Formats: sequence, C-alpha cells, structure tokens
Amino acid sequence: MSAIVLLLLSLVATVAAAAEHSFITTTLAKKSTLKPKISHLHFYFHDVVSGRNPTAVPVAKPLVGPAQSFFGLVTMIDDPLTEGPEADSKRVGYAQGMYSSASQTEVAFLMTMNLYFTEGKYNGSALSVLGRNPPLHPVREMPVVGGSGLFRFARGYALAHTHWIDFKTGDAIVEYNVTVMHY
Ligand SMILES: *[C@@H]1O[C@H](CO)[C@@H](O)[C@H](O)[C@H]1NC(C)=O
Ligand SMILES: *[C@@H]1O[C@H](CO)[C@@H](O)[C@H](O)[C@H]1NC(C)=O
Repeated sequence: MSAIVLLLLSLVATVAAAAEHSFITTTLAKKSTLKPKISHLHFYFHDVVSGRNPTAVPVAKPLVGPAQSFFGLVTMIDDPLTEGPEADSKRVGYAQGMYSSASQTEVAFLMTMNLYFTEGKYNGSALSVLGRNPPLHPVREMPVVGGSGLFRFARGYALAHTHWIDFKTGDAIVEYNVTVMHY
C-alpha cells in the first residue's frame, strides 16, 4: 500500500473512533488557553467548641480506646475564616467539613474540609483540603487536593499554626497560609 492510502486509512480510523466516543473531547494541555497561576492566601480559622453557638461539634465519640489522643472522635465544623485573628475581623469564608482523631499515640486529626470563600470575586469558590493535622505541633502542613469556581484544578498546600488556644475549652484560632496552583 502506498503511504497516501495508509494515511487515508488512519484518518478514517481516527474519525470513526471520534464518532464512537462523542461524549468526550480531549485537547493537548499545551494548546489549551488556560494558564496556570499561583495564589497565596492568609487567614485565620476560628474553631469554637464551647458556649451556646459552637462552630465545631463532636458527632461521634468512641466507647473504647486511648483517651489521651481522642482516637475515634469525629468533629463536624463550620468554622469562620477571617482576615485578622480577632473574632470580629472581616469574614472571608468558612471551613466546612470535619476533623477526626486518627492517631492512637498523639493528638492528630485527619482533616477533610472545604475552605469555602465568600468575599469579592472569590465568593462561592472553594479549596478542598485533605491531610494530617497534629494540632500541638507548631506548624502543620496539609495538602490542598482540589478546588472549584476560581480554584478549578487547584493543588497546593496549607500551613497551619495555632495563634491562640484555650486548653480548658478547646477553643482555638489558627493562622493559615495556603499556596495553590490553579487556572
Ligand atoms: C456571595 O454570593 C451569595 C450568593 O450568590 C450572595 O447572597 C452574597 O451576598 C454574596 N456575598 C458577597 C460578599 O458578595
Ligand atoms: C504565614 O506567612 C506569614 C507572612 O509570611 C508569616 O509571618 C507566618 O509565620 C506564616 N504562618 C504560617 C503558619 O506559615
């Protein structure tokens, strides 16, 4: 067969394959008009466990296990995120999700939460965090595994540092620096 016939045959095969899978279109990422960007976010996370209006509530408590690490405790959160550390500082969003005590030897949470932003053009956009957070360590790193809205395709990391904690109640204010690549 000549080269031209081969070329025609392969074109026919390509068209047939495309028609067979009309629900999906694939483009080389390089040719896409989307351009990667990097954003840094800085905010404070208010975890209120005590009082009449807690933003963090335990939803499951283990019947057995080492009490010192709270292993098995699951807490659901809708924690305000603010620009500054003060409770009345400008609200920029909420951390919605849960943290579960996942270690038997030290206090270490599995964080599964969305950082949902409500300010300006970021209103409605969110970052999904899934990681390990031992809250007594000075700085904790958690992966950002995805995002939505302006944060589509996001990946990156969050650094958390406890700014203030009341060991009696468990209330805490945590500083977050988040670095994400997105489009
Ligand atoms: C964010 O969006 C919601 C719903 O679209 C709207 O009700 C709210 O006023 C917006 N907030 C800000 C600060 O723009
Ligand atoms: C966040 O970044 C600020 C400014 O660079 C820095 O002062 C602070 O220590 C950082 N905190 C964390 C938890 O990374």
